[in-house]
Amino acid sequence: MRTHVADHPLIAHKLTYLRDETTDSPTFRRLADELVTLLAYEATRDVRVSPKDIRTPVGPTTGVKLARPKPLVVPILRAGLGMLDGMMRLLPTAEVGFLGMVRNEETLEASTYAERLPDDLSGRQCYVLDPMLATGGTLAAAVRFLVDRGANDITALCLLAAPEGVARLEQELADLDVPVTVVTGAIDEKLNDKGYIVPGLGDAGDRLYGVA
Ligand code: URA
Repeated sequence: MRTHVADHPLIAHKLTYLRDETTDSPTFRRLADELVTLLAYEATRDVRVSPKDIRTPVGPTTGVKLARPKPLVVPILRAGLGMLDGMMRLLPTAEVGFLGMVRNEETLEASTYAERLPDDLSGRQCYVLDPMLATGGTLAAAVRFLVDRGANDITALCLLAAPEGVARLEQELADLDVPVTVVTGAIDEKLNDKGYIVPGLGDAGDRLYGVA
């Protein structure tokens, strides 16, 4: 697994306001949206393209277009939904599938409660949206789910990550022969005993959807 920290000053600036506990939900949603678009630019560096012949007003040339099959964007419900618009701004022709995963707050283990994905993901590039890579349990389960369906290239976009989550993913996904990349805005200090990222930003779903 490869981890890429997109350490751009604009990303750091927006993350600072996102983390701030005085930031209200509308501002949090806007900042998350802008951050995802910046992360998406990094995350799609290896999106597959195929040649396309065109004519400019001056003459013929060959450019590129997104290759088929279309990339699949998979927000993990609930908080990943807050990342969907920002991702689709860069990949408007991508297909979208949904994965509902919840973590048990006592065991911190993830389970799937809803799924709306194509049955066959053979040869598909998938972009998983999950704002907080905390224990890594949810993302590891989501990646396995997609690989079991045939996906052969997976990139996860996370606003923030904890070192424990990155380490668990590296360990749990070591047997996969599918490339997995995590693109994140920052790797924070640690997890606390409730599985929250420190300093983090709190509960991303609650802050996105105004649950106090
Ligand atoms: N999920 C969140 O929303 N926040 C954390 O800090 C960890 C998991």
